[in-house]
Amino acid sequence: MFFITFEGIDQSGKSTQLELLAAGMEAAGLSVLSVREPGGTPLGEAIRGLLLGPEHQVMDPWAEALLYAAARAQLVKDVIKPALMSGKIVLSDRFIDSSLVYQGIARGLGIERIMELNMGATGGLMPDLTLVFHLGAEASRARLEGRETGQDRIESEPIEFHRMVEEGYHRLEEMYPARIAGINAAQTVEEVHAEVVSQCRERLGIEL
Ligand code: TMP
Repeated sequence: MFFITFEGIDQSGKSTQLELLAAGMEAAGLSVLSVREPGGTPLGEAIRGLLLGPEHQVMDPWAEALLYAAARAQLVKDVIKPALMSGKIVLSDRFIDSSLVYQGIARGLGIERIMELNMGATGGLMPDLTLVFHLGAEASRARLEGRETGQDRIESEPIEFHRMVEEGYHRLEEMYPARIAGINAAQTVEEVHAEVVSQCRERLGIEL
C-alpha cells in the first residue's frame, strides 16, 4: 500500500517516531509492517554485523556502499515488496536516502552513482513518503555521548563527517520536495509525533 521511510542523523529520534506511528496506525486498524536497515533478513542482519561491528574499522567506501545495497536488495525482495503487495503499510527505519547521504555525500561517492547502484538493487522501488528528522551534528553528538551503549563504526566517525550528513539531508529535501518532508527533531517527542501524523494526513491522506 504505502511505503514510508524514516531518515536522519544518528540520535535524531527517528526510531522512536517510527514506533509511535506504527502504534497509532495499528490502533486505527491499519495493517503495518516495520523494518530497519541495514537488516530485516538473515542476510541483512549478517551484513549489518559486518558494517557496524568494530572488526572492519577501515572499509573502502565502495565496499561499504555495496554492502548497504546488498542488504537492501534482499530486504526489498523478501520483505518489503511482498508486504506492499499484500496491502500493508511498510515503515522503514532508513532506506535509500541513507546511502545517498552517508555514502554519496559524506563519503564522497556521488549522489548519482549511489542512486544508480540502488536503483539496480531495489528494482526502482522508492518510498511514497520520506520523513527526515533534522538535528544538528553537535546535538546528535551530545545525545550519543549521553547514551549508555557504545558507538558503532559509523557513529564513531569525526564530527566533520556528521556535519556532512546533517547538511546532506537538507540537500536531499531540496532535491526531492514532493517525496521528502523535513521535520525539526529538536522538539519534544510529542511535538515531533504530531508533525509526523500531519505529514501522513496531508501527503498520503492517512487519517489517524
Ligand atoms: P542506525 O543506527 O539507524 O541503525 O543505522 C546504522 C548506521 O548505518 C547509521 O550510522 C547510518 C549508517 N547507514 C549508512 O551509512 N548507509 C545506509 O545506506 C544505511 C541504511 C545506514
